[in-house]
Amino acid sequence: MRRAFCIGEVIIPNRVVLAPMAGLSTSAYRRHMKAHGVGMVTTEMVSAYGLMFGNVRTGEYLDFADDERPVAVQLFGDSPEVMGRAAEGVVSRPCIPDLLDVNMGCPVRKVMKTGAGAALLGDADKAVAVAAAVVAAAGQAGVPVTVKLRSGLRPGDRIAVDLAPRLQEVGVQAVGIHPRAASEYYRGTADHDITAALVRALDVPVLASGDISGVESALAVFEATGAAALMVARGVAGNPWLVGALLSGRSAARPPLSEVVADLRLLLARVVDERGPERAARWMRKLLGWYLRPSGVAATKIEHLRSLPDARLLDAALAELAAETA
Ligand SMILES: Cc1cc2nc3c(=O)[nH]c(=O)nc-3n(C[C@H](O)[C@H](O)[C@H](O)COP(=O)(O)O)c2cc1C
Repeated sequence: MRRAFCIGEVIIPNRVVLAPMAGLSTSAYRRHMKAHGVGMVTTEMVSAYGLMFGNVRTGEYLDFADDERPVAVQLFGDSPEVMGRAAEGVVSRPCIPDLLDVNMGCPVRKVMKTGAGAALLGDADKAVAVAAAVVAAAGQAGVPVTVKLRSGLRPGDRIAVDLAPRLQEVGVQAVGIHPRAASEYYRGTADHDITAALVRALDVPVLASGDISGVESALAVFEATGAAALMVARGVAGNPWLVGALLSGRSAARPPLSEVVADLRLLLARVVDERGPERAARWMRKLLGWYLRPSGVAATKIEHLRSLPDARLLDAALAELAAETA
């Protein structure tokens, strides 16, 4: 897992990469996960239309720090023309990402009804045209393009296996696969036989996503599929130590609460730098439960922490929590 691999000419220093997660994969979170050892990070998905219409918040989604590299920006949109123009915009910014990723897997209704995300799996010709347009635009800056797929629209679909070779043909240089159908959202289990089929069908690297949450099962996916790397997502939300365990190949017990809290406080400090004390406290709410519940912290305590309106109060309460249990 510690061996480097390449996507195009971009060197990824190891085989554990952070999956894109809307609402979570901000620059602060990506830097935090980078410090935990992931070899590559991807931004939250960014709307190609939002970029085209100069939406400021969308622009914020594109910012990243140099210590995140290699970093991929993920775009979503339905139109080859708009996606091509958005890609052109991204690679003309002063700070060019190492990779561009195209979202062909988002199952959310709001996205799919515009024809973007996983809806592209239902129109293979358009999906290929979108990929080709992004490849053409990114190619001008020498930025490799990747695509993230789901297996298909409905359970049993293997659309990804037919589509991916066509994406490779138009210049896509790696494919991420979350082998669940869009209609399944996150239910059931990921079918990594599809990942293995993609590996057989492609020459470019395949990144395996889906249920990468335990060391043994994840390493079994890595071995059985021949994937170039594992993408960590929900498995690291509240358990960033999974990255180190995957890299070393050894599962480890959850660290003591004092270490869990120390990690949360470090993340909080990064989020404060990014968005200020009030927005940071709000942003941290979801993560408090994911971090603290598995460490046995009472639900009422977590609720209290979640109610704090300011990062300074939250940080002090976290310090107190660590002291109480020391
Ligand atoms: C909260 C959340 C947000 C996500 N946002 C994105 C996204 O913006 N783009 C994307 O390609 N996948 C997104 N995903 C899917 C993940 O990248 C990953 O493929 C999926 O969670 C399966 O991995 P897991 O079972 O290990 O969580 C998201 C998943 C979650 C849980």
